[in-house]
Amino acid sequence: MAIDIEAEVSKSGSASIAQAYPNIALIKYWGKRDAALHLPTTSSVSMTLDVCPTTTSVALQAAGDTSDTVLFDGRPAPTAFVNRVVRFLDVVRDYAGSRLYCRVESTNSIPTGAGLASSAAGFAALATAAVDAFGLQMTSSELSRLARRGSGSAARSIFAGFAIWHGGDGGTDRSSFAEELLWRDLDMAMVLVGVNVGAKTISSSEAMAHTVATSSLYWPWVEQSRKDLAEILVAGHNADLDEVGRIAERNALGMHATMLGADPAVRYMSPDTLIVLDHVQELRSRGVSAYVTMDAGPNVKIICPSGDRETVADSIRERRSDWWCETALPGPGAAVLDPIGGRL
Ligand code: PMV
Repeated sequence: MAIDIEAEVSKSGSASIAQAYPNIALIKYWGKRDAALHLPTTSSVSMTLDVCPTTTSVALQAAGDTSDTVLFDGRPAPTAFVNRVVRFLDVVRDYAGSRLYCRVESTNSIPTGAGLASSAAGFAALATAAVDAFGLQMTSSELSRLARRGSGSAARSIFAGFAIWHGGDGGTDRSSFAEELLWRDLDMAMVLVGVNVGAKTISSSEAMAHTVATSSLYWPWVEQSRKDLAEILVAGHNADLDEVGRIAERNALGMHATMLGADPAVRYMSPDTLIVLDHVQELRSRGVSAYVTMDAGPNVKIICPSGDRETVADSIRERRSDWWCETALPGPGAAVLDPIGGRL
């Protein structure tokens, strides 16, 4: 597409602001069939949360500017983060047929890099704001495909409530996007337990590549995950929380088993993680429908009925007041905000 410089310059200056929420996978994304395009080996399913959003603004810079500026929580972002954002903005510029650089400001209300889904909310918000800033028209599936290019799991944070990210076929970008799952009757909450919210030592991207390359447990998990997906779609549709929880728990523990089977092993779980796992088993033995899921970090998310979320959270807080603990319900999809913060 030819670039109209005058139109480009007139676009510069005003910032587009977007907000997106983290999502937690019930059927995990673990392993890529194409690392550059973030095409996953398997399809995954998640719940978008109603807490801890990321808010991101993107302003197109004047035509003479020579680089992107990236601020994170009001300060210049670390180089690795800037490089990731610039790579993503290059994808958006390609879509837009534009060469304009951007000023990006992002504020995150979830601990970053601790396996609490900060990159999902971050890239969903960035994609939504950037598309608006460049004046692109996209359907939600196209936006989901674009967000995926920043971080795979971001494809799911475009949507409210529950979402399925279709893994897609072969090496094509077009077939891999998320869509909303209408599990309206499923009464589900999550209790987020941060036993250690410091940044993790090995990124999810690195850990998944290493697991795929070296773990003999990886492909059996992929096979099981396909069965888990088919079963959870039925359970979610039937609003069967216990079945959803059971499937999600075995899928997550299976994913961690693939990492333990890697050479050398990747172990995100800490002694405190195991304390939470035991705690949830105790809750279950007392008749509470509580199940765990975990991502690339030591922290645990407890799945339970919405009416039990405060009791479950209080039981965690009583156990350890030094852990970070927050309750969440199904939350909204990514949206552009007006200048005073309303969702458009
Ligand atoms: O989107 P990434 O590259 O941060 O990968 C996320 C992977 C897991 O959180 C472990 C699982 C998932 O499906 O979210």
